[in-house]
Amino acid sequence: MSIRVEGLYYTYNPGTPFERAALEDVNLDIHDGEFIGIIGETGSGKSTLIQHFNGLLKPTRGRVLVDAVDIWQRDVRLKDIRQKVGLVFQYPEHQLFEETVFADVAFGPRNLGLDEDEISRRVRRAIEMVGLDFEAVRDRSPFELSGGEMRRAAIAGVLAMEPSVLVLDEPVSGLDPRGRDELLREMETLHREFEYTVVLVSHSMEDVARLAKRLVVMHEGRVVADGPVREVFCMTDLLRDTGLGVPQVTELMHELARRGKQVRTDMLTVEEAKAELLRLLRSEGRVR
Ligand SMILES: Nc1ncnc2c1ncn2[C@@H]1O[C@H](COP(=O)(O)OP(=O)(O)OP(=O)(O)O)[C@@H](O)[C@H]1O
Ligand SMILES: [Mg+2]
Repeated sequence: MSIRVEGLYYTYNPGTPFERAALEDVNLDIHDGEFIGIIGETGSGKSTLIQHFNGLLKPTRGRVLVDAVDIWQRDVRLKDIRQKVGLVFQYPEHQLFEETVFADVAFGPRNLGLDEDEISRRVRRAIEMVGLDFEAVRDRSPFELSGGEMRRAAIAGVLAMEPSVLVLDEPVSGLDPRGRDELLREMETLHREFEYTVVLVSHSMEDVARLAKRLVVMHEGRVVADGPVREVFCMTDLLRDTGLGVPQVTELMHELARRGKQVRTDMLTVEEAKAELLRLLRSEGRVR
């Protein structure tokens, strides 16, 4: 399933003293099976953009196409689009409200009018997909779970709708480092094993770098870079200008290169940088 955004503009509260242009001429293609990261500092328009993917917001100007169909055409049912493009809001656990985890995850499928067997199948599958133990959590109150587990339960509620595209707005914000790593690994699994197209919104270059193949950088309502992660990581001036900052490993490798060392600078992770540094030290005969 593909999503295309063409010449998208969005203005909040037009014609009032609170008018605010949030998106300006955004063009973007998301292809089936991609894992793409959208990064940008606070207020750059990330959340506004992704709410266009499933028709929660209507463009002030421009078009959004899902599988080549303009979703604002009169004969398109937005309900279908919202089922196909699953959107996980920031702090999704704030929307948990049922008495049990099962009931919460079942809420969406139940609204689709599915029968009980199908609902049960989907709920179990979704809960297992996010790495929770179905039998252990099904009858518990979502509010007794840990922060990370609550977040997963909320994501399961979206997965139970069986979308093709999963869009997550800052899915790890507010979690402790362990909850963060676990959830990021879970996202990776959803993409690899279940072949979800994933769009991950984040402030953190480090988080997206480990998972996404492609990065879209937003700044003041515009897309200012869009390309393979390694290429975007090398755009150090742009990253500084957009307030994102350059990841520490990238900074380090660039500094070594500036000092005349023969090192690759397109490192994404500490592990990669370590391997490259060892290679350098060996080539200089400083370690064996
Ligand atoms: N409901 C709203 N009413 C008015 N202006 C809004 C509203 N929501 C967002 N904005 C404004 O639109 C712009 C883009 O906001 P948006 O929330 O899309 O940014 P973001 O990149 O998701 O930021 P963050 O990283 O803080 O979540 C900002 O200037 C913001 O103040
Ligand atoms: Mg946001």
